Amino acid sequence: MSSTKIWTHKGTFLLAAVGSAVGLGNLWRFPYLTGENGGGAFILVYALTIAVVGIPILIAETLLGRASRKSPIMGMKYLTESHGTSRHWQVIGWMGASAAFIILSFYSVIAGWAIHYTWLMFSGQLSGASADVISASFGELLASPNQLLLYHTLFMLASALIVGMGIHKGIENGLRFMMPALFIILMIVLAYGVMTGDAVAAIKFLFTFNLNDLSLEGWLQAMGQSFFTLSLGMGAIMAYGAYMSKEASLTRTAISIALVDTAIALIAGIAIFSLVFGAGMDAGQGPGLMFVTLPIAFADLPGGALLGGVFFILVIGAALTSAISLVEPVAAFLVERFGFSRPLATSIMAGLCWLLGLLTVFSFNLWSEGTWTHQLFGRSPFEILEFLTNIMMPLGGLLIALFAGWALSREEVLNEMDTNDRWFHTWQFLVRFIAPTAVAFVFLRTLPQVEG
Ligand code: PFF
Ligand code: NA
Repeated sequence: MSSTKIWTHKGTFLLAAVGSAVGLGNLWRFPYLTGENGGGAFILVYALTIAVVGIPILIAETLLGRASRKSPIMGMKYLTESHGTSRHWQVIGWMGASAAFIILSFYSVIAGWAIHYTWLMFSGQLSGASADVISASFGELLASPNQLLLYHTLFMLASALIVGMGIHKGIENGLRFMMPALFIILMIVLAYGVMTGDAVAAIKFLFTFNLNDLSLEGWLQAMGQSFFTLSLGMGAIMAYGAYMSKEASLTRTAISIALVDTAIALIAGIAIFSLVFGAGMDAGQGPGLMFVTLPIAFADLPGGALLGGVFFILVIGAALTSAISLVEPVAAFLVERFGFSRPLATSIMAGLCWLLGLLTVFSFNLWSEGTWTHQLFGRSPFEILEFLTNIMMPLGGLLIALFAGWALSREEVLNEMDTNDRWFHTWQFLVRFIAPTAVAFVFLRTLPQVEG
């Protein structure tokens, strides 16, 4: 007989969901996308999308998890069968789990870069180094399949270890220790950035906007980022929601997650841009912002090697708490469906993801050009995977909004949400009309990029 598994405390879901949300998306992707897209205008669109699309879908996804109390694949099967709704909705579970699988495969490789930089920083190898030397060191890392492989392996092992220990002993305990530690480190990095860098320039860049600065492409990237940063459409939130206490409010919890996630992205942005502008560098460096521009800024500052190392520990930790939420949906499915032990299920998930991650590892060196994917689509294997998830995230989100807004029975919704909740009607309106329209728009605009 299986007893229902629930988080230990009413607030644990919030902790776990914040752990999932806060990751490379906040520390790496948000700052560089903002830098590339002209600052404040990008943030304005991003914040708007979080409010009218992100939060409603976050509520819907948590609702599906808690209503089914199962992993995404089995949960969608249960919800459709028990209410006689079309079986086609089950694609939500399958697509979520596949997207989680693909994302984790490259998330792990990128998190691995942070392991390398932690080492470079603490060992003082970059202290006083010139900008050219530091850029070259990033190039060397990417050119070395062996190094990338080593870090990718370490990171995947750490994620598997935590999830393999179970939701209480592994995930909950891990988060209870890591989340406060990460917050403290972030505050230290912020204080350091503000004291040694140019905080005024950073704040001006982030908070003054001119909508003309923002291209259509920028609008689309802001929407994509709001999905990625809140971990939406990938089954992660649904899987964690399955263990959520019945007493916690869905709306209040979702709003808190979004507020914390956004606050952390902004704080990271202030810290990073203070350092970058303080060193007289440019914000629009793209994905290299964190791995090249920032180390250049640290190289010339007092205590830069130490603080730089501490910063990259933060990156690794934040990535780890996100990665475990990507392992969970598939691992839980294997346990439920095939009766595997949790360590076995986790090893299978992490092992297959590790294998798929090789595509990303080699995309930066051996397969950086001339593979069949380049010939066919003009992209490296990694870029194809990333592109696929850029489609799967909005599509998953769209389906979740439609399912929760229209297909799920009123009874089931009211079982999870309180009509007296003053957010209930706002949520229903957003999830039925606004979120699907907005996502359909993004989705239709993303597709033409296939020709790349
Ligand atoms: N939200 C994470 C971040 O911002 O880094 C990334 C992520 C984690 C996406 C888990 C999706 C997911 F299911
Ligand atoms: Na995030």
